[in-house]
Amino acid sequence: MTQPSKSHGRLSIGATLKPRALMTDTPDLAGVWKAKILTLFPGAFPGVLGESLTGKALQQGLWQLETIDLRPFGIGKHKNVDDTPAGGGAGMVLRADVLGEAIEQAMAGTRGNWPLIYLSPRGRRMDQTMMQNFARCDGMTLLCGRFEGVDERVLEHYGIQEVSLGDFVMTGGELAAQALIDATVRLIPGVLGNQASTEEESFSSGLLEHPQYTRPADWKGRPIPDVLMSGHHGKIAEWRRQMSEDITKARRPDLWDAYQNRHRDGD
Ligand SMILES: C[S@@+](CC[C@H](N)C(=O)[O-])C[C@H]1O[C@@H](n2cnc3c(N)ncnc32)[C@H](O)[C@@H]1O
Repeated sequence: MTQPSKSHGRLSIGATLKPRALMTDTPDLAGVWKAKILTLFPGAFPGVLGESLTGKALQQGLWQLETIDLRPFGIGKHKNVDDTPAGGGAGMVLRADVLGEAIEQAMAGTRGNWPLIYLSPRGRRMDQTMMQNFARCDGMTLLCGRFEGVDERVLEHYGIQEVSLGDFVMTGGELAAQALIDATVRLIPGVLGNQASTEEESFSSGLLEHPQYTRPADWKGRPIPDVLMSGHHGKIAEWRRQMSEDITKARRPDLWDAYQNRHRDGD
């Protein structure tokens, strides 16, 4: 996989630029995957996305991040973004008119295949296939909820997809958005140095990954399995495949059934 040249319609970004500056001080780069985040807490970004491989790729212009602060879209002197739930009950709900303005600004100028996602515990649970599809998009806009969530009419009006990090409730959508972006961006060509590693890891084949070992060869009386030290590539591949199958069968019978069905259907 050839890494796109930094001079090829991309930015030449100074090494001193801090991750946060990369979200605000850079123009849109043609053909580069971009995440636009609607949030009350823009300071939460890039967060962990500014570290390691995703951070380096952000600096290299292999992907882009923009936060859109919901607060300036608020109503009145206090820039209120939320109000009490219709029908009563605890908490506050993000207002449709506030979100509508912010969403329309965020979606203006987006191109091609550009989904609009609301991070929500009611959504479809994230999985690797979903991330592969997101990585093939031109970019995406992510709405992070807070309080009791958002006015339902916004979701209906803009046909927003709801996506969940898992069956639990967090205080806001920001961590879920970062998880989604991390899992998506690492699938963009060039972001990971070694492309093969995304092909072999958990879920890519429909199975969980085999165990991994490294030096020392013996640790606290636990040796690395002999086969991995044998240098016999065929046997190593076979051992890894067998371990993947065993682990998937034991830990995730749902994945194992799906895998077997696919293979039975000749996929
Ligand atoms: C306290 S939660 C609201 C929960 C909502 N009242 C419910 O019961 O479905 C506030 C925000 O956190 C985010 N959030 C919470 N849990 C999440 C999850 N499992 N996946 C994605 N986003 C989540 C959503 O953006 C949500 O609007």
